[in-house]
Order: sequence, then structure tokens, then C-alpha cells
Amino acid sequence: MGDTWLSETRTSYDIDAAGYADKVSGLLAGSPYLRASLAVFAELVLDAGGGPVADVGCGPGYVTDHLHDVGVDAFGIDLSPEMISIARRDYPHLRFEVGTMTDLDLEDSSVAGIVAFWSVIHVPDEAVPGVLEEFRRVLRPQGLVLVGFHVGDEAQHTSRGYTGRQINVESHHRRPGTVAGWLRDAGFSIEAELVLRPDEAVPGAVIFARTAG
Ligand SMILES: C[S@@+](CC[C@H](N)C(=O)[O-])C[C@H]1O[C@@H](n2cnc3c(N)ncnc32)[C@H](O)[C@@H]1O
Repeated sequence: MGDTWLSETRTSYDIDAAGYADKVSGLLAGSPYLRASLAVFAELVLDAGGGPVADVGCGPGYVTDHLHDVGVDAFGIDLSPEMISIARRDYPHLRFEVGTMTDLDLEDSSVAGIVAFWSVIHVPDEAVPGVLEEFRRVLRPQGLVLVGFHVGDEAQHTSRGYTGRQINVESHHRRPGTVAGWLRDAGFSIEAELVLRPDEAVPGAVIFARTAG
């Protein structure tokens, strides 16, 4: 199998980057709980002394920009070069790099925080522990991670993008307890979990976790 999922996910988001960017345009403005989560995250990072924050799987960059607006030294990383082009075009004052969360091009203990909003959803179960180990490696002691994901038990396959073109991407829906367990196993302590729209068919969740230190 190897890393087929990585190349399929990259190609799919390259194909669908413009459609995805359109779809999420204005999303944060209509999402008070996500904005609140980012505000708490920013406060915790700044309280711990500040420092660079990586928005991993940043897509078109609007979360990175929001973090910047609330005073965080944020930069974005994404697997998809097309996503990174859009992010650089729309937020030229910010830094965005192509990269993968499975092998971050960052020094050990070099970032104060990581936001991973609906990006680890594309990582298959067997690769998640390695990704969380990468997060722990690059985070400083007492570093914060904020992970957002779809809640559920199944994997959803998407074969058509927002612009109608053919893509091939898996999104793994997960229970907060499962994600929290993986984070604990990777050396994080859990600070908070928030389930969004719990009565909908596919709720969302965010988990705040911190490295020991
Ligand atoms: C559903 S989008 C979320 C984008 C953005 N974080 C948001 O909340 O709108 C998933 C993003 O994760 C990126 N991604 C998927 N696998 C990745 C990986 N291994 N490393 C970095 N980014 C990845 C995709 O390219 C895509 O831009």
C-alpha cells in the first residue's frame, strides 16, 4: 500500500483547491464555536510565551490568517501545492509551505503550537500515531495542539470535488475518545474536548492537548 493515500490526497486537493477555497470562504465568520476555539488556543499559546504556530493542513489559509489576526505568529503547511498557491495569493503577508504532516520540515522543539483543522481526517488509522509523534517532536515543552475532525465511525470516500471533477480522497470520521487516546499515547495530556453540533449526522469535534514539559 505504501503512501498511496498521500499521493491520492495531494492530487485530489490539487484538483479541487479552488472549489474547496470557494466552499470554505466565510466559514469562520459563521462558526462562533470554531472562532472561540481558536481564541482559546491563541490565548494559551500567548500565555505560554508565544512563538511560531504551524497550521498543518492549512488548505487555503483562512485559519492561518485568523490566527495571525488574533496575535499569533502563524504559518501554514499543506500537502497540496495548489492549496499553497491560493493561500499565498490570498494572504501574501503570511508564510505558507508545501509539506506533509507525516514528515514535517521543522526542527525539534521549534513551534509553540500546532493547529490541525480537519486535516488529520485524511490520515489512515495506522499512520496517525506517526503523525502525532511528529507533532510532539516539533512542539516545544508545554506546546499546544488543537485538532479538529469529523465525529463518527466510518470512512467517507469522495469521488467528486466541489467543481464536479473526479477526485479520490478518504475522510476518516472518529470518536473523540479514540483521538484523545492516540494523543495520550503520543505523550500529550488532554486539556479540553468540544463536540460541535452533536445532534447532526456528522458532528465535529476539537481537542486541545499539550505536550509534557
Ligand atoms: C478538509 S481540508 C482542511 C483545510 C483547512 N485546515 C480547513 O479547516 O479548511 C484538508 C487539508 O489537509 C491537507 N492535507 C491532507 N493530508 C495532509 C498531509 N499529510 N500533510 C499536510 N496537509 C495535508 C489537504 O491538502 C487539505 O488542504
